[in-house]
Amino acid sequence: MPTVTFHKHGQTYQEEVQPRANLVVRAGIKAFPYPHLKYECGMGKCAKCATRVISGAEHLPPPNWKEKKQLGDRLEQGWRLTCQLWLEHDIELEQE
Ligand code: FES
Repeated sequence: MPTVTFHKHGQTYQEEVQPRANLVVRAGIKAFPYPHLKYECGMGKCAKCATRVISGAEHLPPPNWKEKKQLGDRLEQGWRLTCQLWLEHDIELEQE
C-alpha cells in the first residue's frame, strides 16, 4: 500500500492509502489528507490542489493536458495537480 507523506504549514501528516487512491477524492469523503489538503473542483480546472512532489515523482505518469494547462512552468519545479493523480507508490508532497 502506498504511504503518503504530506507537508503543509510546517506540519507533516502521513498515512497509508489503498493503491490507486486519489487524494482529492479521499478528502471529499473526509479521509486523509482531509482537512489539510486544499482543493476545489476535483477536475483539473482550478489548480487549487496543486502540490509539489518532494519524492516519488518517478513513479507518476507524465502530466496530462490539464496539468500542463494549469501549471505551466511549475511542472518543471515538480508541481502536479493532486486531483489528477492516482497513487500506486509511496509519495511525499508539499502544499503551500
Ligand atoms: S481540485 Fe481543481 S484542479 Fe485539482
